[in-house]
Amino acid sequence: MKIVFATNNLNKLKEIQQMLPTSIELFSLKDIGFEGEIPEDYETLEENAFQKAQYIFDRYKISCFADDTGLEVDSLNGAPGVYSARYAGEDCIAENNMRKLLFDMAGKANRSAAFKTVVAFVTDSEKIAFEGVAAGEILIEKQGDEGFGYDPIFKPEGYDITYAEMSSIEKNKISHRGKAVRKFTDYISSKS
Ligand code: IMP
Repeated sequence: MKIVFATNNLNKLKEIQQMLPTSIELFSLKDIGFEGEIPEDYETLEENAFQKAQYIFDRYKISCFADDTGLEVDSLNGAPGVYSARYAGEDCIAENNMRKLLFDMAGKANRSAAFKTVVAFVTDSEKIAFEGVAAGEILIEKQGDEGFGYDPIFKPEGYDITYAEMSSIEKNKISHRGKAVRKFTDYISSKS
């Protein structure tokens, strides 16, 4: 089965490639010749994930999945949430987002947070979503340099290390995206 993963993020592509059964041929946006930005106009992870998958499906007619992730911090009423990528402003880098988050949380005793991922899958006959959640806490400073995004300041529940101190294989086993993608791959495997 041929499937496009609607992302330009090579870290994610690598993470997901390790989790898919070999019967699935995974293509990136680059592989199918898509260049540019896919719109993300909505205020929920699910709507954005469906928008991205549908956008590519409509243009290439290949089954497509897309993911959308947000980091929800309890003491910030769920922020940055759907705005996680641009928390410190449009076109900002991960370093700026982490700095802003640590600044906004300065002095806050409650460090609880959760990463949430929604994977949306669009084919010619169906549209279906899968969710994965990973609870944890935000540290007061960075630890580790693997991974991407907020990894150096997120310590998953039950661990003494951050996502950025784990290998991608270890992270996949417990992560928000790992959980959502496993639901998705289990679903596809059960159909084929
Ligand atoms: P996206 O929807 O997957 O692009 O995620 C939005 C933003 O959430 C990214 O730009 C990252 O800042 C952050 N993010 C998503 N997944 C992860 C992760 O696995 N670790 C750390 N940060 C992440």
